[in-house]
Parts: sequence; structure tokens; C-alpha cells
Amino acid sequence: MKFLQRLAFGSMLLLTGSLSAQVPTDAKMKTFVDALMKKMTLDEKIGQLNLPVSGDMVTGEASSSDIGKKIKEGNVGGLFNIKGVEKIREVQKIAVEQSRLKIPLLFGMDVIHGYQTTFPIPLGLSCTWNMNAIEQSARIAATEASANGICWTFSPMVDISRDPRWGRISEGSGEDVYIGSEVAKAMVRGYQGNDLSKNTNIMACVKHYAMYGAAEAGRDYNTTDMSRIRMFNEYLPPYKAAVDAGAGSIMASFNEVDGIPATANRFLMTDVLRKQWGFKGFVVTDYTGINEMTDHGMGDLQQVSALAMRAGIDMDMVGEGFLTTLKKSLKEGKVTQQEIDNSCRLVLEAKYKLGLFGDPYKYCNSERSKTDVYTAANIKTAREIAAESFVLLKNGPAAGSSVVLPLKKTGTIALIGPLADTKENMPGTWSVATDLSTAISVRQGLQNAVGSTAKILYAKGSNLDADSTLEKNATMFGRDLHRDKRSAAELINEAVAIANQSDVIVAAVGESSEMSGESSSRSDIEIPQVQKELLAALLKTGKPVVLVLFTGRPLALKWESENVPAILNVWFGGSEAGNAIADVLFGDVNPSGKLTTTFPQNAGQIPIFYAHKNTGRPLKEGKWFTKFRSNYLDVSNDPLYPFGFGLSYTSFNYSDLTVSSTSLKGNQTLTASVTVTNMGKVTGKETVQLYIRDVVGSVTRPVKELKGFQKIELKAGETKTVSFKITPADLKFYNSDLKYDWEAGEFQIMIGSNARDVKMAKINWSK
Ligand code: BGC
Repeated sequence: MKFLQRLAFGSMLLLTGSLSAQVPTDAKMKTFVDALMKKMTLDEKIGQLNLPVSGDMVTGEASSSDIGKKIKEGNVGGLFNIKGVEKIREVQKIAVEQSRLKIPLLFGMDVIHGYQTTFPIPLGLSCTWNMNAIEQSARIAATEASANGICWTFSPMVDISRDPRWGRISEGSGEDVYIGSEVAKAMVRGYQGNDLSKNTNIMACVKHYAMYGAAEAGRDYNTTDMSRIRMFNEYLPPYKAAVDAGAGSIMASFNEVDGIPATANRFLMTDVLRKQWGFKGFVVTDYTGINEMTDHGMGDLQQVSALAMRAGIDMDMVGEGFLTTLKKSLKEGKVTQQEIDNSCRLVLEAKYKLGLFGDPYKYCNSERSKTDVYTAANIKTAREIAAESFVLLKNGPAAGSSVVLPLKKTGTIALIGPLADTKENMPGTWSVATDLSTAISVRQGLQNAVGSTAKILYAKGSNLDADSTLEKNATMFGRDLHRDKRSAAELINEAVAIANQSDVIVAAVGESSEMSGESSSRSDIEIPQVQKELLAALLKTGKPVVLVLFTGRPLALKWESENVPAILNVWFGGSEAGNAIADVLFGDVNPSGKLTTTFPQNAGQIPIFYAHKNTGRPLKEGKWFTKFRSNYLDVSNDPLYPFGFGLSYTSFNYSDLTVSSTSLKGNQTLTASVTVTNMGKVTGKETVQLYIRDVVGSVTRPVKELKGFQKIELKAGETKTVSFKITPADLKFYNSDLKYDWEAGEFQIMIGSNARDVKMAKINWSK
């Protein structure tokens, strides 16, 4: 019997290979999947919807393990976060040799910002404003992951967030839908290429659908509740952009939306995703997302599993609610055969598109795993992209010089701070596949850069936080900072002593890498007090201080911005962080990163974002407090650093804005231009940003919205004209009927170097 089935399946494989080239892929796929599904029992269909956790495996033990048993029984559709091509081959072998229908497994992983070669955390990546670089980072991640058995990544994370308290703001592209959508597309292109069947391309999984970044109070997993018009205009576009770019799968979010957890939210999963956006891939839950609906208050496991299936979920991550209850629910009429079949078909189609039926081992090429991973070329690219993600927040005068940075590779440099000598904290949160021991620390990077031309003295200066429990919780997963038992005063004294022997102080302070990311929300978004005290003591020495800021979120840096002469925000730069930091500190690379999230003055201003509404009582520009206007008694409305902001070692002058016409009609195109001049002595890159304000609308519109950007390079003294073409498509928004259209009237066209500093022209556009 088994032999016959094997034969039948074998001939099916041959069939897929030999079908004529004229038959469209979709039709071939349908024929193949139809034939396979005819053979499947109900249990086997439900088995395809199961994505259990395997834990990492010991080579040679997979077959006798619990998971091995489930695979043989046809109860597993895929596995995730197994690292190593041999292990994956071994598990795949069980599926294709020992299960009845020999259906290959999907192997997924959280390849979030690189595989072994890691790139900056996604928030940092977005600050490059360089879509080619972002696409390339995803491409390299796909090449490395696919060389190691992985065919599916749980990325890109495209959740918009305007709440820096939320730790997962580090995993996305910030606060803005326009750049968020551009990054989403670039990442999908990078992972999937234009042909998923190539063995260097992997399937993307867009997450977390939807509105996860708007969790109340910035507390992870918390409730999200917002108007539909805000959803469609301000939160959903990046998910849609990723779907439009062809993302093969999507992950449901943990939070509820409109009172229904996303995992059971039919409006999101079916009405919007499938019916409006035409999504053709499959939807997976997040980790135990179905089971958690019991705590949400939606019923027992059988009920919540049925709710998820009815809403449009196809695959159940970890919780096995589908595996253990769907059959019963089908008997009781709580789900339909059609629903199970649809989901099973989508999972099988994903496997087909990836070419796994043709060759289940196509991602298990041991040769490639040796030659394609962590290569010199990939490492070089990681270093370049890291340097491009850093944002120079301040470069003020100190000790007789007009600017502190760049530093000279001579004299004595005091390198101080809890983040100065920790390679494990460099890759950043969600770098599950990397080898932390190969990452480059700041200390190593500076040493590599100066060789013997300068002396580098090091002291830790302080622990991460005075509270040892907080430090423990913020340094999990091998990111230990080796807490120093000495008192804060002793640590500071040691640091001040070496600072006094130095010409300049580089203070590597801020957050540890696990202080952001999942389940790492903070209510206080300042640099921990103990590190601020260290900074204060270093400033007192009178030596110039450069603050090299590690963070996974916008921090409130009011005191630092007022007291420290130079601040370079380096996020978590990935494998090559330390080398890239040295490149920028010494001026081998001129910084060009710009913020994709507003930095508030204090946590009380949250949510603060540039594309806000005007209100009926706006505060006049330049004012702090006016009674009965929309403002605070104790802080101005201004951000500390606006969206789009970032300095360079040169400066750029913007001319006034010119427009091709001030009165347009219908489908005409408007050209808006500025000329930008490099006023300094070195070559630099500048991201020129286009914003538009729709002055009068049928619904209130934001004070400005990003609609385009161009990153240009200018030599010292060079001038370039930067032009943007604007059409009515750029003016569209969702109105109160959720219709996506533009409205005639007055518009302000703004171009500038950040959301605050813009040149403006007014135009009128009639229908
Ligand atoms: C996270 C996801 C991740 C998944 C699998 C969850 O806890 O929310 O982002 O992809 O785990 O590791």
C-alpha cells in the first residue's frame, strides 16, 4: 500500500516537472494541489495547519522525538527556529520519507534583520532612508537563511508605532505610513526576489496584522482601539503595501481590534485582507495567538480555534488549537469543510510556490551553507548599512573647537560606558540566528580603526541600571552585561580617572539590546539614572564628551541635548556595529541617517508624531503656552528631535521652493523643486523630504504628510536641484465612507530636511 502511494506521489512530482510551459503556473499549481488534496484525510488536512514549536534539535534525535512522531503521523505543516542545515534536512527527511503522503514541511525562522550577518535593528534600518540598502539587507538575509534550510521568514514587521514606550517599536520602521510602506515593499522584494522558486529566495511573512503598534499605554500585547478612518489612513497602508508587493504570508497580531482579537477578527482577516486587498497567501497566527483568546475572554480552546478558522486564519502557531479541536468543531457544525480545505490549500500552495514539492531539500545545500553565510562581502555590506543607519543628533562646540565630531585618530581616547565593551549587545533584539560572539564591540571597533596611532583607555563607568532585577530582565538571551559588584561611586571614580588622562571621552550608554523588542516596554524612556550620573561626572572633567547612544526606541534626551556636546544615535547596528561606529566617529563615513520617529522631550508628550491634526485650538508656532489653546503647562508642544531629523559633518542649504504651476486641474502633474547646496568642506548625503498638507477636507487632515523623499550625495560646495512629481494619486486619503479619493482645493507643498524645517508653496488643485 505504502509503496503504491509513494509511486502515486512520485508520479505527481514528475507531473509537476513535465507539465508544458504553456500552462500558467496557477493552473499547474491548482491541478497539483487538487490531486494531492483528494488523497488527504481530514486529519492530514488539519495537520497541514499546525505549526508546532520544536525547540532547537539535537542532530540524530529528531526521528525518535515527540515532534518526529507528529511529523510521521501527518500532524505538522511546518516548524520554526531550527538552526542548521543538517538538522533541517533530517527533519524534512522524516516528513518526505515517513509520513503517508510525504508532504514536505515549511521551515520558518525569525530572520528579522539578517541571519548570521546581522544588520541594524529595523528601526535603525529605516533611518537610512535608503531603500536599495534595505532591500539588499533582506536579500543577504534570504541568501544566508536559505543556505541553511530556511524557506520562510517572519518578517517584515510593518507595525506603525507612535509610542516609544512600546518595546517593539524597535522592530518596525517608525511612525509614518509612507516610509513604512516603502520599507515594507523593499523588504518583501529583498526576501522573495521575483521568483519564489529559486533556492536563494524565501517567503516573507508580514506582521503583525494589525495595529499591534498602537497598544494602549505602550504596554506589549495590550488592547488597540481606534476609528476605522485612522486605521485606514495611518496604520493599515504598510501591510497593504507588503501584500501588493506579493508577500506570501501574513501573521495575525496578539492585540484586539474593535473588541475582537486580531486572531478572530473577520473584518481584518477576510473583509479587508482577502476581499479588499485580494491577498492570495496564507495567514498564520502569532505564537499561541489562538489559545490566548481564552484569556481575552472569547471562550475555551475549541471555541477560540473555531473563531480563528471562521475569521480566516490558516495556520496555528504553537498552540495546537486547530490540531486538537477542529475535527470536533466540524462534526458540530462550528466550522465547515470548505474552511478547512481553503486553509489547507493555501498552505500547500505556499509549499508549491517555494518549489518544495519539486525538491524538499532545495534549501538544504550543505555546500551553500559553508560558502554563502557570513561572507566577507556580506560583512562589508552590513558595516556600510550600519554606518548609514546612525543618526547624528547633535554636534556642538567643545573645548575650543566648533564641533566635537569627527574625532582624530591620535592622542588618547577614553571609552566609557556599560555598552562600550559588549559584543553580545551589538546585533540587537531579534537576532536569533547570529553568533553573538563574532559581533564587533565599540571597543574592538575603535581599536581596529586607530591601530597604534591613538591610545584607547576603557572603563565600564556604570552598570546598565541601579536595579539589578531590571538589568537581569533587560539582558536575557545571552546578552549579559556582567554586572559589576562595585558601587556606582567606585565605577564612576575609575571612569573619571581615565577620562582625566584622555583628550576626548566616548561614552557608550543607553539601553541594552533586550531593553527593547518583545515584552520590553518601558514607562520611563530616559537613559537610566545611574548612566546619567556617569555622564554628568564625565562632563565635569571638562573634556569633550561624545555620547554614543544605544537604543531601540526614541528616548527622552532633554538633559543630554542640553549638556552633552555631541550625540550619535547608533541604535543596535548588527554584526559590524563597532566597526561602523568607528567609521562614523572618525569621519571615514559622514553620517546621513534621519529619524523615522519623533523624539519627545518627555514621556508625557506621547503619542507625539509629526502628522498630527491641527485641532480647533492650535498653538501658534513658536509659542509655549497660551491659555485655552491645545498645549501643556509644563512642556512645549515641540518634539526634542523631529521626524526626519539628522545632522551631517557638513551642512546643506535649501533654496526656496518652486512649483511648475500654482493652479492645477484633474490629472495634471505638478513639479516641485528645491536646490540643495553642500555648504561644508566634505562630501555628504542628504535626504530631501516632500510633505503635503491638504488644507481643507471633508474630514480633518494632518498638518503635513510625507509623500516622497530623495537621498542625494553632494560634494563640498556642490548644488543639485531636487524635483518631485506630484499627481492626484499623492493627494488621496480615506474619507469618512472609507472611500479612497482626493478632494479639490488648496494644498501646501513643503520640501525640507526634516518635518520641522521645510520650505513651502501653496497651490490649488481643481477636479
Ligand atoms: C512574536 C513574533 C514572532 C513569533 C515567532 C512571537 O512571540 O510576536 O513576532 O515571529 O513569536 O518566534
